[in-house]
Amino acid sequence: MTNKLRWSLLIWVLTSAVSLPVAAQGWKIPQPSPGLMPNPVQGKALYAQHCASCHGADLKGSNQGPPMLHRIYEPSHHADMAFQLAVANGVRAHHWQFGDMKPVPGLNPDTVAHITAFVRNEQRKAGIQ
Ligand code: HEC
Repeated sequence: MTNKLRWSLLIWVLTSAVSLPVAAQGWKIPQPSPGLMPNPVQGKALYAQHCASCHGADLKGSNQGPPMLHRIYEPSHHADMAFQLAVANGVRAHHWQFGDMKPVPGLNPDTVAHITAFVRNEQRKAGIQ
């Protein structure tokens, strides 16, 4: 085994030892109802009501929040789970300078799944996938 490999193995073992108990403690990922068919049309109305004030009615952002039509939010970088977590727990600012996103009240995992379907649709139309 090369030294470099040994180091990466060690780092991997250490970080998984630390992160596993944290994952087990909290951060339950809200799950939509089994069999739910996420509906972008419903998602559009919910997005307008709950998200557009910051992320923009056209998903291009505002002075309060970042655009959803952005490479950063493509599915491989922010999976659907990130939407569930963002709405339920809020987001600590880490990509932008808008400040933190607070949890959004009045939604549940199903309504968030509809919103996510709408955002994914719009992202695909904009070539972000
Ligand atoms: C009050 C303003 C505000 C509202 C309302 C809001 N957001 Fe956000 N959101 C933000 C900001 C600011 C960030 C960026 C944080 C950062 O710097 O990474 C963000 C980030 C996100 C992220 C990225 C999470 C991550 O893991 O990086 C998702 C997904 C998201 N918002 C979804 C939503 C959805 C869905 C709604 C509506 C239900 C919503 N937001 C409503 C301000 C808002």
